[in-house]
Amino acid sequence: MQTRLLHATTEGIHEAARLLRDGLLVAIPTETVYGLAADALNPKAVASIFAAKERPMDNPLIVHIADMDDWAPLVKEIPDNARRLAQAYWPGPLTIILPAATCIPNEVRGGLSTVAVRFPSDPIAQAIILHSGCPLAAPSANRSGSPSPTNAARVMEDMQGRIAAVMDGGDSAVGVESTVIDLSCEKPRLLRPGGITPQMLEEVIGDIEIDEAVTHALKVGAVAASPGMKYKHYAPKARVRLVKGTADAYIAYVNRHAADGVAALCFDEDTEQLRVPTVTYGHRDAPLEQAHLLFDALRQIDEIGAHTVYAACPKPEGVGLAVYNRIIRAAAFDIINTIHVVGLTGPTGAGKSTVADAWRQAGIPIVDADEMARRVVEPHSPCLAALTAAFTDAILNADGTLDRRELARRAFADPSATKTLNDITHPAIMAAIRQELENLADNGHALAVLDAPLLFEAGADALCDRVIAVTAPAEMRLARIMARDGIDRDTALLRMHAQPDDTFYTRDGVTVLVNDKTPDALREQALAVIAERWCKA
Ligand code: TXA
Ligand code: MG
Repeated sequence: MQTRLLHATTEGIHEAARLLRDGLLVAIPTETVYGLAADALNPKAVASIFAAKERPMDNPLIVHIADMDDWAPLVKEIPDNARRLAQAYWPGPLTIILPAATCIPNEVRGGLSTVAVRFPSDPIAQAIILHSGCPLAAPSANRSGSPSPTNAARVMEDMQGRIAAVMDGGDSAVGVESTVIDLSCEKPRLLRPGGITPQMLEEVIGDIEIDEAVTHALKVGAVAASPGMKYKHYAPKARVRLVKGTADAYIAYVNRHAADGVAALCFDEDTEQLRVPTVTYGHRDAPLEQAHLLFDALRQIDEIGAHTVYAACPKPEGVGLAVYNRIIRAAAFDIINTIHVVGLTGPTGAGKSTVADAWRQAGIPIVDADEMARRVVEPHSPCLAALTAAFTDAILNADGTLDRRELARRAFADPSATKTLNDITHPAIMAAIRQELENLADNGHALAVLDAPLLFEAGADALCDRVIAVTAPAEMRLARIMARDGIDRDTALLRMHAQPDDTFYTRDGVTVLVNDKTPDALREQALAVIAERWCKA
């Protein structure tokens, strides 16, 4: 079948109406998204919608009308709250569910006893409904699982060859599907957020319940109030992961995970700072704009060929709740909680551990890079296996643990051996640190410190939002190393000179704490510098 593109002229509208009366499928523009329409009272026509969309038969359809008088015949009765909502928001992006009249085919109801009705405000949609002379059943005009189409070209991508025609009505104004409210039960229940916000509904009918599924994944085995909520939705082929947190934390997280095939679905404000290809869906504080752009942005993601997309999280308020509801489904509820990571580094003897202790006592979790380095070479770890392959099992103790001294002897013998060591251990340590940070974030921590003497050498500064270095005058360091390790001046000097000098740590962008007074003074500085940042994050 060749799918025709119709234009919004008088002839075009009459042609669309004629095709619909003949029991064929026509995609029509509405103010929310494009709908795939059929005569709602013709079971065969309705059944062909499910075939064209590859939609599960138990997922019911919305019936569209274009005259207030056409509502009553479709439902058992119109209760008072339904009438008031219709008066307030019809025509518009609101769908009302009520017990169905007997004329509604089972196919439309998806086997339920209720029916969803909507009076769209789009003038082209209204003209087509009026001219066809029948109520139109119309789900969004995408193939099941794909983002809903918001212009005729996007409908064609999914429906070319599957339906009789597409009516071109330009871009959909709202961009996300209608608000769905169920008035068939005792307490009005919001099943799907949309352009008509919960506040707008409550202004007219008082308290409503918001279905769990609006913001959460359906629990295994639970029955969906709205069957559509149990299916995977709005998903591009790429894996979408939703990143929660401040703008800074989002950007840092994405940049930390930059790689080939990784992209960002972000706000306009973020693009300049992101180091991966971006697709934007509006400004951070503009939910109407986000709703308008989201579905097309989701489709653009596949066009840029990304395999993983980190999405910036919209504020789930007002129309933003509808945007959030769609994006968590596009992400299949894969949500990443971000954490602000402060790297702590500095040369030996400068006072790094005093700073770390002060922060630990203030309740800030500290990830110790040395501890991670020990953890990745535990017996039976892939990292230890790789080291043994490279340096022979002479580096193993009799009990299978790593003989660090022997490894050091072999690995530091020449630069190429050192490189081999670093190539094996650094990625494993980085992965372990990353995992530890993600665990902390999942447990609700907003801030963590990565304590890493070799932060820059290992490239772990890339995991940090900010780096703080502790330095101290050489004489003071020397005295501390001698006291701490019980060694003489010459040995302590050797140890100091084995490390890079201060300028290595005090590079651009690093906050430097100079430890040239008392430990208490250093602790005070340490707490002040982190509190200042904490408030900003
Ligand atoms: O804005 C819209 O509502 C668009 C345009 C075309 O009007 N239509 C649309 O339809 O989004 P669809 O089929 O993609 O989504 C309808 C949603 C589904 O989640 C479906 O399960 C739910 O409404 N629904 C329909 N009838 C229902 C009923 N009787 N009880 C519970 N949920 C129902
Ligand atoms: Mg849909």
